Parts: sequence; structure tokens; C-alpha cells
Amino acid sequence: MRRPFIAGNWKMHGSRTENAELIEGLLLGMPAEASVEVAVCPPFVYLWEAARLLKSSSIALGAQSTCAEAVGAFTGEVSAAMLKDVGCQYVIVGHSERRALYKEDDALVARKFLAARAQDLTPILCVGETLEEREQGLTDQVVSRQLNAVLDVAGVAAMGTAVIAYEPVWAIGTGKNATPQQAQEVHAHIRAEVGARDANIAAGVRILYGGSVKAANAREIFSMPDVDGGLIGGASLAADEFLKICAAA
Ligand code: G3H
Repeated sequence: MRRPFIAGNWKMHGSRTENAELIEGLLLGMPAEASVEVAVCPPFVYLWEAARLLKSSSIALGAQSTCAEAVGAFTGEVSAAMLKDVGCQYVIVGHSERRALYKEDDALVARKFLAARAQDLTPILCVGETLEEREQGLTDQVVSRQLNAVLDVAGVAAMGTAVIAYEPVWAIGTGKNATPQQAQEVHAHIRAEVGARDANIAAGVRILYGGSVKAANAREIFSMPDVDGGLIGGASLAADEFLKICAAA
């Protein structure tokens, strides 16, 4: 039985004041015995304060990226050990915005995944195709390539303590979510791809859907058998909306 998981990726939004209000709203509205696991991923500079505000709540903390290197002269970077040190439990790796805007390739994403695991952080590995790739019928191929780049270096056992997020690039921030059926097809493909290496790990790994999830479409998407929750962008910035999404999982 896979426990549903909802992670809010705040991207480059917020301020100390806004974050405090958002977290207060989440803490007030989150049921004490929620069956769903919930995490929020603020920008790096706000992690420490968010950890303090979330302390002793059931909401976990995640970061949006990590440096692949452990320590050293890497100006502007933040290591997985630092994320662990300030209270993170999760870290997103391979988000399509990192891949597209900051030229992070499959090999670098795999190294980031390893860096996270080395600190016992749970990586949330993002995969997903562009609209052009989907229209060319390349969705499964692209997702397999992104996934196997990590499986090849980390080994399938590493996926036993990781989370995968399928995020079609064309659905991110566009208001045009994948249909539940489209999501299910790719999620099933991802699970089969992991299953080709280890059936037990495949059965247990949580695969989140991300891309224009909101309260109005969450329940239908999460009802798909291979969809285990969501990675939520824009809709994670309003407490009421995010809480409704959590309740739908
Ligand atoms: O990490 C989150 C995804 O990029 C989804 O973003 O919910 O704003 O479409 P969105």
C-alpha cells in the first residue's frame, strides 16, 4: 500500500512574511491524523525559518534542488549536507525548469540524486516530456531515458527510498493539466520501467503527477491506480487550495 504524498514546490515565490502566513494557514488546516504525507519546498534562503515554523508538525520540508558536489569551491551552490543540516527530508532533482533553464542534463541529475541519497535525503526525481516530444510520440522514450540515467548509476534499490514525479512540461504552469488517463498511461510506463529491474521496488515506489494540479482536478487525477499524489506548483502557494488538494489525495 503506497501512502499518498503531496509536495508543494514554491519555486521562486514568497517572502518571510508570506511564508509565515502560508505555513500558519497550513498548520491550522491540516488534520492531525492525515492519511496523506505532505511536504513543502521553499526557496533555499527560507528553509531554515520554514523548518522552525513547521517544527513538530506533520508537514515535512524539502528543497528545490541540490548541488551534486559534497563540499568545496562552488560559489552560489548549496550542498545536500546543508539541506539536511537545516531540516530537509526531501529534495527535488531534475525539475524541468532546472533541465531547460539551467541546462541540467541526465548525467547531472543522476549525480544530484546520488548526492541527496548520500545524505539520506529522499530525492523527488522529476521526469517528463515537452509538447513537441509528445506530439512526436516520444513520451515513453524520453521518460525512460531520464529514469534510466538515474537507475543506471544509482541502482534500482535506490528507488526504494525515492519518489518519482511525472511532470509533462506542457502542463507546468499552463493551466492545461494532463488528463487522468494521460497521466495514468505514463505512470504505468514508469512503474513498468522500474519493474523491469525489480518488481517489489516498482510496486512500492510513489509516482506523483505534477502540472496544473488544482483543487478542482486533483481528485480525478489522484484516483488513477498508478498516481500516488502530486507535485504542486502554483496551487501550493495558497493554503486553502493546497489543503483541498491534500484532502483529495
Ligand atoms: O513542481 C511543480 C510543477 O512544476 C507544477 O507546477 O502546478 O504550477 O503547474 P504547476
